[in-house]
Amino acid sequence: MNKNDIIDFREAILKWYDRHRRVLPWRALPGQTPDPYHVWLSEIMLQQTTVPAVIPYFLKFLNKWPDVKSLAAADPQDIMNEWAGLGYYARARNLLKCAITITNNHNGEFPQTQTELKKLPGIGDYTSAAITSIAFNNPATVVDGNVERVMARYFHITEKLPQSKPTLKSLAHDLSNNQTHRPGDYAQALMDLGATICTPKSPLCSLCPINQTCQGYKHGRPETLPARAEKTSKPKKSGYVYIIKNNQSEILLHKRPAKGLLGGMLGLPTTDWTPEKPEHVDFLQAAEINREAIHHSFTHFDLTLTICTMTKANITPPSNDYIWQPIENFESKTLPTVFRKAFVLNQKQ
Ligand code: ADE
Repeated sequence: MNKNDIIDFREAILKWYDRHRRVLPWRALPGQTPDPYHVWLSEIMLQQTTVPAVIPYFLKFLNKWPDVKSLAAADPQDIMNEWAGLGYYARARNLLKCAITITNNHNGEFPQTQTELKKLPGIGDYTSAAITSIAFNNPATVVDGNVERVMARYFHITEKLPQSKPTLKSLAHDLSNNQTHRPGDYAQALMDLGATICTPKSPLCSLCPINQTCQGYKHGRPETLPARAEKTSKPKKSGYVYIIKNNQSEILLHKRPAKGLLGGMLGLPTTDWTPEKPEHVDFLQAAEINREAIHHSFTHFDLTLTICTMTKANITPPSNDYIWQPIENFESKTLPTVFRKAFVLNQKQ
């Protein structure tokens, strides 16, 4: 694309955005100055998670921790509890680390360059570009799944994802690089266009501001782009999950090790998750194996957990990583989704 084509493309996108931008709780309205804390928090939450799923979490966090300093001072367990259900829990652990670093080393202010931002915990290419452009209105190339789809269609890139990622990124870069005119709005406009017009299954091409020059539209069947390499099916793992109650109406919970899957989260006691069904947890041998099981899909494997129960359990857990929690007022939404499924299924019995 030559310089004028790039200017036309950007103008069309921005004009569309001025009429059709989504109103989102982390987004500054026209004329308002964006709050870097809101932008950062939302962008971390939005990784691998949809806008509707994020909104209630974002509002809850903002209400509880209105700025980066208050988040830095939060009890880590409190943050993990509030994050429960959003998934990818390393994000929550890094969120706290990042808030502490900004408070202690940057006087509570977010750095404004991508290089400095990328030194912070949990901030990589995507998030540093999003903060640079959206929070500080400086040029940066923001490429998420929406932008990849818009690029693949607009330039009719038939190579499959993920191999085509560098090509799509480079095309996005050509369009955004060094553009000082409303870089923040442009980044958000491309994401909104991808989310509302250039949608994965049935794009609304007739409403699209760039359909006249879109190569995917011209070739027909833009919905087939971006093509994707065949997914190999995920490995299967299984295990037992325990719903253990004592005679004081308490349920046994387990604080998971800081590292690894669901690290640092409070969950139900469970065995290792392995390709073959594992041995019971030693001190829970006496639990009754139920017929019910739950299924949960993680990024790298599909899990089946068979529920085991024990009531009036007279046991002493082997370490203080296990805690008894009163069942009354127990909110299963403080559990990661895999455990909430087991708890809820068991309650229905
Ligand atoms: N998805 C991720 N970040 C977004 C943003 N800032 N606006 C719209 N959609 C998004």
